[in-house]
Amino acid sequence: MHGRLAFPDVCRISNLPMIFNHPEYDAHEQILHVCDAEAGLRAIVAIHRSRDTIAAGGVRFRPYPTDDDALTDVLRLSRAMTYKNVLADLPLGGAKSVILGDPARDKNPALLRAFGRVLERLGGQYMCGPDIGTTADDMDVISEETPHVGATNQQMGSSGPPTALGVFHGVRALAAHLGYGTELRGLHVAIQGAGAVGSDLARHLVEAGARVTIADVDVQAVETVREQVNVAVVSPDEILSIEADILSPCALGGILDEHTIPSLEVRGICGGANNQLREESDAERLRARGIAIVPDFVASAGGVIAGTAAAGLYPQAEMPGKLEGIYDRALAILGQATADGATPHEVAHRMAARMLGES
Ligand code: PHE
Repeated sequence: MHGRLAFPDVCRISNLPMIFNHPEYDAHEQILHVCDAEAGLRAIVAIHRSRDTIAAGGVRFRPYPTDDDALTDVLRLSRAMTYKNVLADLPLGGAKSVILGDPARDKNPALLRAFGRVLERLGGQYMCGPDIGTTADDMDVISEETPHVGATNQQMGSSGPPTALGVFHGVRALAAHLGYGTELRGLHVAIQGAGAVGSDLARHLVEAGARVTIADVDVQAVETVREQVNVAVVSPDEILSIEADILSPCALGGILDEHTIPSLEVRGICGGANNQLREESDAERLRARGIAIVPDFVASAGGVIAGTAAAGLYPQAEMPGKLEGIYDRALAILGQATADGATPHEVAHRMAARMLGES
C-alpha cells in the first residue's frame, strides 16, 4: 500500500452518491460540500467553469427533499451560470451555491457569516450574489466576512429590477421573431410569478402597451402588483394553460415538462426563472409544438450583468449595453434555431461552447 491512501471501508460502499458519474456533473471544476455544525450551515458550492478568472453566480437558500435534489439543482444551476455569463459577454465563469434549509426558519446572521467565511477561504474564485431565498440584506451579512459578494445594498440593492429589464428585452426580441414587430401594443403576456422580477416585468410591459395576465401562489404579491399596474389576475393553476401570445415564467424552474407543454396556448416563452425546462428533451417538445423559447440563461442575465458591474468586476459604463445586448443575443439565437430546424437551447449551447473554446 506504499504511496497510496488507504481508504476506510466506508468509501467502498457502492451506493455512495456518485459525483464524477452524476448525470449533471458536466466536468465541474470544483464541488464543495460544506458543513459548519456550530452555525447550522449545510451548503454546496459548485464551480462549473472559472475561465481563469472569477466564477459568478447566486446563492439559493431552500429546503430540498433529498441531498441529491440539492446536488442536482446546484450542478444544473451553475452550468447554466456559465452559459448565462458567457452569452451575456461577461468576462466571468459560472458557479452557484445552495444552502440547504428553510430560509424562513433557518436563516440567521451566524449561518450567513459562516457561508461568507467559506467564500473567503475560496479566495475569490467564486463571487456570490442573491438568488431564490436570499436578498441584498443577506449579501450585506455575507460581506462582513468576505469581499467576494455582489449585489449588496451598498452596491446595488435588489437584482430584481435589472433582471426584469433584461427579460423585457428578451420578450421584445421574441415578439419581433414571432412577427409582431417591435411594437408591443396589444401583445398579451402571461406572467407566472409576481415576485421582484415578475412584478417589475409587468410594469415594463404595460408601459409598452402590452396586456398582462399574472399569477402567483402568494396572493398578497399579486394584490400588490394589481394595485400598481393594470393587470388581469388568474389562479396559479391556470397561468400555464391560458391563451396568450407569450408566457413568461418568473417563478421557480422545472415548470416546462411532458405534462405542461401539451396544454400551453402560447406562441413563445421568455422568462426570468432559471432552468425552466424539467429536462433537456423538453426543448424538443416545445419545438415540435411550434413554440419558440428564449433560453432562460439568456433572458435572465440582467441580475448578474448589473450585479457584477456594481461589484466592480467589469466597467460600469459597459453595463447598459450588455443589458440591451440580451435583445440581440435572443434574436440571433431564435433566428438561427429556425434556420437550422434546431431548438434555441441547442443553438445557445453550441454558441456558448464555441465562446468557451469547448467545441
Ligand atoms: N441569481 C443570479 C442569477 O441567477 C446571480 C447573480 C449573481 C445576481 C451576482 C446578482 C449578482 O443570474
